[in-house]
Amino acid sequence: MSTAEIEKRKTSSKKLLYIESYGCAMNFSDSEIVSSILKKEGFKSTNNLTEANLVLINTCSIRDKAEQTVRNRLKLYNSIKKKKNPNMMVGVLGCMAERLKDKLLEEEKLVDIVAGPDSYRSLPKLINEVHDGRKAINVILSKEETYADISPVKLNSNGVTAFVSIMRGCDNMCSFCVVPFTRGRERSRSPETIVKECKDLFDKGYREVTLLGQNVDSFFWYGGGLKKDFKKSGKITFINFANLLEMVAKIDKKLRIRFSTSHPKDITDEVLYVMKKYENICKYIHLPVQSGSTRILKLMKRGYSREWYLNKIKKIKSIIPNCAISMDIISGFCSETEHDHQLTLSLMKKVKYNFGYMFSYSERPNTFAEKKFSDDVTPETKKLRLQEIINLQQKHSFERNKSFVGKIQNVLIEGISKKSKEHFYGRNSENTVVVFPKNDKSPGEYADIIINNFTSATLIGELKK
Ligand code: 5AD
Ligand code: SF4
Repeated sequence: MSTAEIEKRKTSSKKLLYIESYGCAMNFSDSEIVSSILKKEGFKSTNNLTEANLVLINTCSIRDKAEQTVRNRLKLYNSIKKKKNPNMMVGVLGCMAERLKDKLLEEEKLVDIVAGPDSYRSLPKLINEVHDGRKAINVILSKEETYADISPVKLNSNGVTAFVSIMRGCDNMCSFCVVPFTRGRERSRSPETIVKECKDLFDKGYREVTLLGQNVDSFFWYGGGLKKDFKKSGKITFINFANLLEMVAKIDKKLRIRFSTSHPKDITDEVLYVMKKYENICKYIHLPVQSGSTRILKLMKRGYSREWYLNKIKKIKSIIPNCAISMDIISGFCSETEHDHQLTLSLMKKVKYNFGYMFSYSERPNTFAEKKFSDDVTPETKKLRLQEIINLQQKHSFERNKSFVGKIQNVLIEGISKKSKEHFYGRNSENTVVVFPKNDKSPGEYADIIINNFTSATLIGELKK
């Protein structure tokens, strides 16, 4: 960068931040934390890339495709920078920043800042380093950072539903997953700050919070520190996820609570009984299975077998009979045979998930699977199996939604339907989207809706008179 350019950046009085997020809900929540940190530095948000002087992209590494999407966005930024916005500073945040570190600065010449998920507090310092004409990087992972004291600035919010981060990192080390390397060790946020954030959101008119973590059931607070150090700490009291759920549920009956993601091996009966006890805790669990074959689950290091998972589902349904359940499934993991694939389909038939998120296996650098196994299922077979999984799920979603016809659903109105200005949309407790003609109610209010039609993705109904 020339001296003139450096001076121009430094003296630029406008501080306009453009931030874009990819990947999981955690990334979207982190971008709100970043916006809050930078707001204190005088930055205002903009949706216009050509006027922004700081452009941040919060990235995902979970599959190769997610990284390619980010690379394409960087190409676009590059051309905008060249043609329309020469003073634009570009920062890469999140999982790709953590995974690639300084390689990212070498590979993507336009990038000025690389900041991993635990280093957002240092962004003001990193920005100053760039003002001084250097590239800036911080990818140090932390055992403590939870951004507990930061109240996030809501971005693109509907004013009704919000994400609240309760823990960071993951200690599970599933063999296919890059997350433990990009987000570090599991650590929980202080319950008081979580409850305070949820209360504040409620007071501002929000009516639903989703408690977020890579593995929420592993939430464990005894005053800070890693879960494994509890015994050494000499402390005797702790707050687990069931306790936290109850604390949040008690804030107000009108505040709905959801949570994501649960690991089948960690969700306890205690959590299920708390869900049952409080009507405002939504009857929905996202419970990734990944595969229906015990052999594959073992290679994936998931910590449960097919039978164990099916028993967990039975337990959930026995405590909360109408609980909706969704899944993540990966097709074509290393050495997966047609028989393994059939086991996945048969597990799906047993559970009949309400919906699901389905992917084909993408080998990630440095994971256990990359080091020890061969990515030997051909792309064609992965694709074919994935399609069969998707088709079956669509059939199940259709059947599940059909079962709601004629029933009354209590829906939290989230806003005006994207497809029709004459309709509201919201979700029922089971997390299915419900669309219905507008009435005298407003977003943020609850409405009893009689379901009279459906697709595999949406319930359609009208207000109960
Ligand atoms: N390839 C494909 N899907 C993956 N997931 C995680 N790692 C991979 C990978 N390497 C999926 C899992 C997880 C979800 C968030 O992403 O299903 O639950
Ligand atoms: Fe990845 Fe497994 Fe942790 Fe989920 S539980 S983030 S799949 S390592």
